[in-house]
This record gives sequence, structure tokens and C-alpha cells, in this order.
Amino acid sequence: MAARENCCNSRNTFWVIFGVTQFFGLLAIALMVIWTCVFNGGYKWNGRYHQFAIHPLVMILSMVFLYGNAALIYRALDCVPRWKTKFIHMIITGITLALAIFGVATVFIFDHRMNYGNMYTMHSWCGITTLGFFTFQFFAGFFAFMWPGVKGSIRDMVLPIHRFGAFAILALSLGSIMSGIVDDLLLSMKSKEYRELPPHAIFFNVIGLLCMAYILLTMYLLHRNDWNQGAPLPPPPQFVLEEAQEQPGADPTPVPETSGPGELEKLLPHPR
Ligand code: HEM
Repeated sequence: MAARENCCNSRNTFWVIFGVTQFFGLLAIALMVIWTCVFNGGYKWNGRYHQFAIHPLVMILSMVFLYGNAALIYRALDCVPRWKTKFIHMIITGITLALAIFGVATVFIFDHRMNYGNMYTMHSWCGITTLGFFTFQFFAGFFAFMWPGVKGSIRDMVLPIHRFGAFAILALSLGSIMSGIVDDLLLSMKSKEYRELPPHAIFFNVIGLLCMAYILLTMYLLHRNDWNQGAPLPPPPQFVLEEAQEQPGADPTPVPETSGPGELEKLLPHPR
């Protein structure tokens, strides 16, 4: 009973942090849209700032909000069968990848039209690394986990690397967002104007902080293995067996340390 209560409390904590995370992500996107639509004439495919503005919006929507949610899906949908969750994860990451490619293509086309040159900033290098890494992660994940007939041993080998990849992509995305914001502010105004903290800088600094909070909270939720559908199995309760065998005349039958009915099931291998 106590174990069940602990589990529910732990789940409540998950939902509170998840809700706050979603709020930060949605607020960052809303502020980006408000900045462009209310103060900067909206989004247009006209080769000017209106076209460039598509880039930051689509990148935050894809590499921060959608990617974060795709990674969290295994924690959030814990009562949905694992094969369905895998499928939803694949669909969301696929949409994320398509949007991210579109977002980066937009700024390449814009820079080309304006004759600004390409790939000369730290942001552009960090950004292209993020996109390259994410593209690799998507296809490696697809062939390892979705392709029929791949051996369980290969999936088991790839899974920890795939999990680490999610953290790496979130960290790279954060670096790209931060450097992109700095680039945008420095390239769009004179340094004297920038030092006076105009509304543009306030908006973008707040958006940067919201993205940082979103990514850090997402990483926290991901690192909590007890909220994961496919968490690695706890070690078998060997030490209980050893202790029982040490007692003279004790029953040598191993007694697993379970805290309630159903706990033993958690020790059984997860279907991947
Ligand atoms: C994960 C998110 C992001 C990725 C992967 C990314 C990627 C890129 C890439 C690859 C370029 C180079 C384009 C070229 O050389 O023509 C670029 C340019 C640019 N991006 Fe981003 N970007 C991201 C987010 C942002 C954000 C949030 C902003 C904020 C406003 C931004 C602002 C800029 C600016 C101003 C440029 C043109 C100057 C430059 O090349 O550094 N980016 N981005």
C-alpha cells in the first residue's frame, strides 16, 4: 500500500514538472510569435527580415519543443503499450526533423538572397552540428528499433547510446539557440543600441531563458529512470539469497525483496 502511495506521489511530481516544462516551452514560442507578428510585420517569404524570422520560430518549435516532447513520450505515456509509444516517438521525431531541415534551409536561402555569406559564425557551425547529429540519431534509431528483424542484442547495445544521444541533442540545441539569439541581436542592431537593452533584446533574452529552463527540466525528467517505461531492470535480489544461506538452518529458497503485489513483475524483462 505504502509502495503504491509512493508511486502515485512520484507520478504527481512528474506531472507537475512536466506541466511547468510545457508552460515554459509554449511561452517561448508564443513570445517569438508575438515579437514577430505584433512588432515586426509578421512572417512572409519575401527574402527580408520577415523571411528570416521563420528560422528562429521553426527551430525553437522543432529542436526544443517537439524534440523535448518526443523524448519525454516514454515517461508521459506510461500506460500505453510500448510498441505504440515507439511509433508515436518515431512520428514526432520525423516531423521534428522535417521542420528542422526546413528551418535551416530558410536561413540558408535568406543569407544567399541577401549576399550575407554562409557558415562563418560559431552559431552556424554549432547549428549544423546539431542538425547533423539529430539526423544521424533519427536514422540510427529508425534502423535499430523500427526495422523488422533486428536482433534484441543489437537493440540492447544501441539503446544506451540512443539515450545519451537525446541528452547530447538537447545540449547542442541549447547551444544553438543561445548563440543564434546573440547573433541575431548583434547583427540586427548597433552595439550602442544593444547596450541600452531595447525591447528586441528583452524579448529574445527572455525567450533564451525559457528555452534553457525547458531543456534543463526535460533533461531532469529524462534522467529520472523510475519514470521511464523501458527502464533497465533492477539487479536480481541476490543479496537476500546470500544472507539467507549464511544463516545456519535457514530456508535457502531465495526471497525477492518486493514491496507489494506486482513488484516481481517489474523484475521481468521489458519487451523491446
Ligand atoms: C537548434 C536551433 C538552431 C539551429 C540548428 C540553427 C542553425 C543555423 C544554421 C546552420 C545557420 C547557418 C546558415 C548560413 O550559414 O547561411 C544559422 C544561421 C542563423 N541563425 Fe540559426 N539555428 C538555430 C536557432 C536559431 C535561433 C533561436 C536564432 C535566434 C534568433 C537563430 C539565429 C540565426 C541567425 C541570426 C543566423 C544568421 C547568422 C549566422 O549564420 O550565424 N538561430 N542557423
